Amino acid sequence: MIAIYQARTQARVNAALDGLFLAPSPELTRLYAAMRYSVMNGGKRVRPLLAYAACEALGSSPALADGAACAVELIHAYSLVHDDLPAMDDDDLRRGQPTTHKAFDEACAILAGDGLQSLAFSVLLDSALTPQDADTRLKMVSVLAQAAGPAGMVGGQAIDLGSVGLKLDQAALAFMHRHKTGALIEASVTLGALASGRAEKTELNLLQTYAQAVGLAFQVQDDILDVESDTATLGKRQGADIARDKPTYPALLGLDAAKGYALELCDQALQALRPFDAAAEPLRDLARYIVERRS
Ligand code: IPE
Ligand code: IPE
Ligand code: MG
Ligand code: MG
Ligand code: MG
Repeated sequence: MIAIYQARTQARVNAALDGLFLAPSPELTRLYAAMRYSVMNGGKRVRPLLAYAACEALGSSPALADGAACAVELIHAYSLVHDDLPAMDDDDLRRGQPTTHKAFDEACAILAGDGLQSLAFSVLLDSALTPQDADTRLKMVSVLAQAAGPAGMVGGQAIDLGSVGLKLDQAALAFMHRHKTGALIEASVTLGALASGRAEKTELNLLQTYAQAVGLAFQVQDDILDVESDTATLGKRQGADIARDKPTYPALLGLDAAKGYALELCDQALQALRPFDAAAEPLRDLARYIVERRS
C-alpha cells in the first residue's frame, strides 16, 4: 500500500523537480549540474510524500501540492549537501553516491546548497507549481522560512555541531532533533495542508500534532539505523554518529528503548489522525513507514 503510494508520489515530485535545473547560460552549467546531482539522486522523498498526503487528507488533489513538495525537498537536499561538508559531518557517501563536494568540489557544493535554498522559495512564488492565491503563497513562504531558518533546521544543525562529544539529557536531545529534522517535516505537512485550500484551524492543529510526533520519530529512527543498518542499505556511512561521538537516542536510551520510543511516537501521530477519514490513510501509512523503514 505505502509502496504504491510512495512510487506514485515519488514519480510525481521527481517530474516536477526535474524541470528546475536547466542552466540559464553556459557559464552556469557546472553549478546547475551540481544542484541537479544533489536532488535527482534518489532519496526517499519523505517530505514531499508528507506534503501530498496532508493535502489529500483534507480532500484535495495532490496536484495542488506540487510546489510545496518541491520546495521542501529542495530545502532538504540543500541541508544534506551542507551537512556532508568537511566542516560539518564530513561524509563521502550520500544516497549511494559520492557526496556533492566529492563529485564536484567544496565551493561548488556550498554554492549548490545556497542555490537550492533560494530555489525552494522561488518555487513557492511560482504560480505554475504553486497555483494558490497570493495570501496562501505568502503564508507558505513564511512557514518554510521559519522551519528552514535559525529558529528551525539551521538552529538544530548548530546545536548538533555544538553537541559533539557532549552528553545531552533527553529534553536537550529532543530539542535538537525537533529543530534539525522535525521542523522541516512539520512544515511539509503544514504546507501540504495549506496547499489543499481546505485547512481549518482544528484540522491544522491535529496535523501539527501528527507532524511533531512523526518529525521526532524520523530522527530517532535515523539514529537507530546508524547503529544497526549497513552502509550499502543506507546509502550513507553506517556508524557515522558513533564515530563522531554524536548525541543520539540509542546512545542515550539504549537501542531497545530507542526503538520503543519511536513506536510510541508513531502511536501519538496516529492518535492525532483519529478524527480524519480514509483520505488520511497515506498519512497513517507514512507514520508507520517512518519507524519501520530500513534506510
Ligand atoms: C536524512 O534524511 C537526513 C535526516 C534529516 C535524518 P532522509 O533519510 O530523508 O534522506 P533521503 O532524502 O532519503 O536521502
Ligand atoms: C541531518 O542529520 C539533519 C539535516 C541535514 C538538517 P544527520 O546528520 O543525522 O543526517 P545524516 O545521518 O547525515 O543523513
Ligand atoms: Mg548532521
Ligand atoms: Mg550527517
Ligand atoms: Mg543521521
